[in-house]
Amino acid sequence: MELVHRGKVRDVYADRDGELLLVATDRVSVYDVVLPTPIPDKGRILTALSLWWFDQLADVVPNHVISATDVPAEFAGQAIRCRRVDVVQVECIARGYLTGGGWKTYQQNGTAYGVPLPAGLVEGDRVPGGPIFTPTSKVAPEVGHDEPMTYDEVVTAVGADLAAQLRDATLALYAKASEIAEQRGVILADTKFEFGLTPDGELLVADEVCTPDSSRYWRLDDWKPGGTQQSMDKQYLRDWSDTLDWDHTAPGPRIPTDVVEGVRSRYIATYEQITGQSWNT
Ligand SMILES: Nc1ncnc2c1ncn2[C@@H]1O[C@H](COP(=O)(O)OP(=O)(O)OP(=O)(O)O)[C@@H](O)[C@H]1O
Ligand SMILES: [Mg+2]
Repeated sequence: MELVHRGKVRDVYADRDGELLLVATDRVSVYDVVLPTPIPDKGRILTALSLWWFDQLADVVPNHVISATDVPAEFAGQAIRCRRVDVVQVECIARGYLTGGGWKTYQQNGTAYGVPLPAGLVEGDRVPGGPIFTPTSKVAPEVGHDEPMTYDEVVTAVGADLAAQLRDATLALYAKASEIAEQRGVILADTKFEFGLTPDGELLVADEVCTPDSSRYWRLDDWKPGGTQQSMDKQYLRDWSDTLDWDHTAPGPRIPTDVVEGVRSRYIATYEQITGQSWNT
């Protein structure tokens, strides 16, 4: 098999005609820099949780999954055989809560990435008026960082029809996923989707779905607007890295053992609470 792409987290192999093997490794990135310390089992947790979500959301938008079992033995549990698509170069983010970059821009100018919001909101509030679509450009790490895009910029980049499809699909997926999560006691505060087009123009959800790498997860019981929320996702690692004197360029810092375990246990807890299945290792 030919390695066609090494992403920050996934190794992507071309296999058979029109198919890819997406192998999630234990690598972790912060601010787009892969850190030198792996998180044990992360690749398998992300793969299992993505597969669970792909299944739950399949009736909302079709996805790229072909098989999680028809994969080489060496990648068992870490790989998804999927349909190769032309990935749309827009990261499609849905936000149901005010946090992270959206909270930052809200404090500056009353909008979450340009989407106007009423005054008086606090950090961690639910977005009044419902979840919002805040796309960003998908930029190769060698080139720079993903940048927020306005909806009009998405229209210019991909055309009005596809832009509307991306927005509607993102919000529909988020609506269903956040409802399912909430039934299980978890807030899906925001999440990122990647979409791709098949050779005959069908839009599929690709990449990973609603993992703690691509989403913010909070325990419903712990949710307390008015400050930073306790995260069950990668935010924990970002917060740790923010305590360091690090300029967000490579090489990234080594992760101490207790923080590795902090990430791992959060990812497992998220998997278990969402799926209702125990992580047996
Ligand atoms: N079905 C698919 N067909 C083609 N490419 C896909 C498909 N699903 C995911 N991808 C791509 O595979 C790569 C997965 O790797 P990973 O998630 O590690 O990348 P990343 O670090 O997030 O992004 P980058 O591509 O910038 O390295 C991404 O580039 C993603 O867009
Ligand atoms: Mg990715």
